[in-house]
Amino acid sequence: KRGEGNPGSGPVGIIGGSGLYQMEGLTIEEERVVETPWGVSSDPYLIGKVGTLPVVFLSRHGKGHRYLPSEINYRANLAGLKSLGVSRVLSVSAVGSLKEEIAPGDMVLVDDFIDLTRQRPMSFYGNGAVGHTPYGRPVCSDLFEAFSGACEHLGLPTHRGGTYICMEGPAFSTRAESRLYRQWGADVIGMTNGTEARLAREIGLCYATLALATDYDCWHPDHDMVTVADVIRIMNQNVRRANTILLDALERIPSVRKCHCADAPKSALITDPARIPQ
Ligand code: ADE
Repeated sequence: KRGEGNPGSGPVGIIGGSGLYQMEGLTIEEERVVETPWGVSSDPYLIGKVGTLPVVFLSRHGKGHRYLPSEINYRANLAGLKSLGVSRVLSVSAVGSLKEEIAPGDMVLVDDFIDLTRQRPMSFYGNGAVGHTPYGRPVCSDLFEAFSGACEHLGLPTHRGGTYICMEGPAFSTRAESRLYRQWGADVIGMTNGTEARLAREIGLCYATLALATDYDCWHPDHDMVTVADVIRIMNQNVRRANTILLDALERIPSVRKCHCADAPKSALITDPARIPQ
C-alpha cells in the first residue's frame, strides 16, 4: 500500500489529453483550483478516488479544449499536481504514427522524446536558480512498467517503447518534416508530452506517456493527410480503452518508488538548494 512517508505516497496524477477530459471510474470528491508560483492549471483538479486509490485528474487542454499546445501552462499543471501531494503522473495523449506498423488505434508506450518546440517555457529554472537536470532516460521505469503490464493484461495492440517527436504546432507537419522524422527513427508525433516530461523530471515527478495513435500524419502514401476530425474520431473510439488501461495501470504502480525520478532536483541544482523548484 502507498503508505505515509514513503517517497511514492500521495495520490496518482493523471493528465488526460485530447478526447480524455474526465475519467470514468473516478469518484470525484472535490474540484480544486490551485494557485502556483507559475499561475493556475488548465482546469480545476478533479480530486477523488478510484476504488480506494487517491487520484488527481487534470484535463491538459481544459474542458471544452480551450488551450493550444503552445498555450498550455505546463509548469502550473505540474507544480499544482505536486502541491497536491502527487509524485507519480500518468499521461494519455493522441499522437500521429510515423511507422507503418503503428496503426491508428494502437497504443505506444513512449520511452524517449525529441523536443522540437521553441515557443514555450521549458524549465522551472532561471532567474538565479541554476539547474541542469539529468534527463537521459526521460520516462519513469516504474510507470512505464505499470502501463505495459496493463496493456499486456488487457491484450491490447501495444508497442513497448517508442520515440515521441514533440513539435510546436499548432499546424500539423509538412510531408518533408514527417519524412525527416521517420529518417530520424522516431515512432510517433505529438505536441505536448515532451514539454510535460521534461518539466515533470525537473521537479522530481515520475512521468510516463500512454500514446494513442490516431493517424499516419502525412507521410503515408495510402492515407490522407491528418485532420483534426480524424484525431477526434479515433480518440472517441478509443477513449474507453484508454480509460480501462489507466484503471488497470493504477493498480500496478509499486507502492515504493524503484526509479530515480525523485533524485533529479537534488542532482540538478548547482546554486542555492533553497531554490529547488516546487
Ligand atoms: N496528434 C495527433 N496526431 C498528430 C499528428 N499527426 N501530429 C501532431 N500531433 C498529433
